[in-house]
Amino acid sequence: MINNRDGFQSRLGFVLAAAGSAIGLGNIWGFPTQAANHGGGAFLLVYLIVLFLLAIPAMFTEMYIGHRAQANPVKALGEACSETNPLIGKTAGVIGLFGAIGMLSFYSIVAGWMVSHAMAPVAEMAGNTDLSAWFNNDSHLRNLIFTPIFIFFTALIIMKGISQGIEKWSRRLMPLLLTMLVSLIIYIAFQDGAVEGIKTFLIPDFAHITDSKLVISAMGQAFFSLSIGVGGMMVYGSYLKKDENLVKLSLSVAALDTVIAILAGLLIIPALFVAQHQGIQVYNDGQLVGQGQLIFGILPQLFAQMGEIGVFVGFAFFFLLSIAALTSTISSTEVPVAYLVESKFASRKMATTIVSLTVLAVSLTIIFNFSWLFGAVINVVTNYHLPIMGLFYFIVVGWMWNRGNILMSGESKHLKYLAMYIKFVCPVLLTTVFYNVVTG
Ligand code: PHE
Repeated sequence: MINNRDGFQSRLGFVLAAAGSAIGLGNIWGFPTQAANHGGGAFLLVYLIVLFLLAIPAMFTEMYIGHRAQANPVKALGEACSETNPLIGKTAGVIGLFGAIGMLSFYSIVAGWMVSHAMAPVAEMAGNTDLSAWFNNDSHLRNLIFTPIFIFFTALIIMKGISQGIEKWSRRLMPLLLTMLVSLIIYIAFQDGAVEGIKTFLIPDFAHITDSKLVISAMGQAFFSLSIGVGGMMVYGSYLKKDENLVKLSLSVAALDTVIAILAGLLIIPALFVAQHQGIQVYNDGQLVGQGQLIFGILPQLFAQMGEIGVFVGFAFFFLLSIAALTSTISSTEVPVAYLVESKFASRKMATTIVSLTVLAVSLTIIFNFSWLFGAVINVVTNYHLPIMGLFYFIVVGWMWNRGNILMSGESKHLKYLAMYIKFVCPVLLTTVFYNVVTG
């Protein structure tokens, strides 16, 4: 087959782009918050176990389907199920597209908050305190301005294609992200109160280990963090040359994602303790105050108390989060774009425009019905869509797909155990945890 699809030019480019998809608000915001609320090191331990037993195999399986098919998720799943039930495969692919749109619509709103918080210190520096306060405070208008801006930035990169857009920008943004993260960790570690935070994050509080919610939260976090279930990893896998070693590459992506989550914990938790040291209330009854709003409520206060340097630290922090969010939204946007380009013969520009406007429309609907819809969309996408799609990938690769499935055909002897694991163990494990999510 002549393959003139665009694709990743190098292994490193692929790893950085896939790690860019994985590393996002889930790592820098979600992971530390969950860890702080679920016994620090105890959460970390359970997270690592769930990661190895379920999330990494699920990510590998998702990438594998795309990699073998060298096609967008709808086509890839349709082909994988062609001998058993192509309609189920294609339908699941289309449901995946809706998952990607759903994920993008709430994620772009949150990402917009990051951009606006990054603008606050800039306004401060320019001497406009009112504007700075406006950037820092939640408002309808702020959402209506920053969500479209974020969707627009994502679209700009997607329009350029894989090698010139996604790969090029991942290569630029990912090292920048790591540098900023490490610099911030070092800076915060030297502030009074930080050591207590580092201890809270790393030392396990085993009182939490028996909490059944711990495993559920850890699994949800791991699936979200590795971007499993919306087809982003599948479409990236499809842009990888056919002879690449997917096991090694997926392990590298998972390792990078986990290292960044742990580093983020070493930044956020100590930062919260520094804030506490300065008299800002951070914990209440062993739980972080303000839950998800944590970093917006507490950290800007902390940065403000740091004086001049706080302006730079505040900007660096929220700029870092904006970059992490951007490399995640590009992977989800690529899913429906690839589908429209390959299966509906749209031009890349046209496909990106259609997808971006659809995401914008859904985001606006959420913004206008924020009080009930925002949480509901997040709940459906993260707690239901991602694990169900993960389960479906295991079943497709393990049970429904024959021709071309080198993992199950036994052609690849050294992957025999992995194949058996994906076929028999993963679906059972995942169903068990998911059952607890639904009944819990
Ligand atoms: N993995 C991203 C994060 O940690 C979120 C994401 C989920 C991205 C699903 C793409 C697809 O923030």
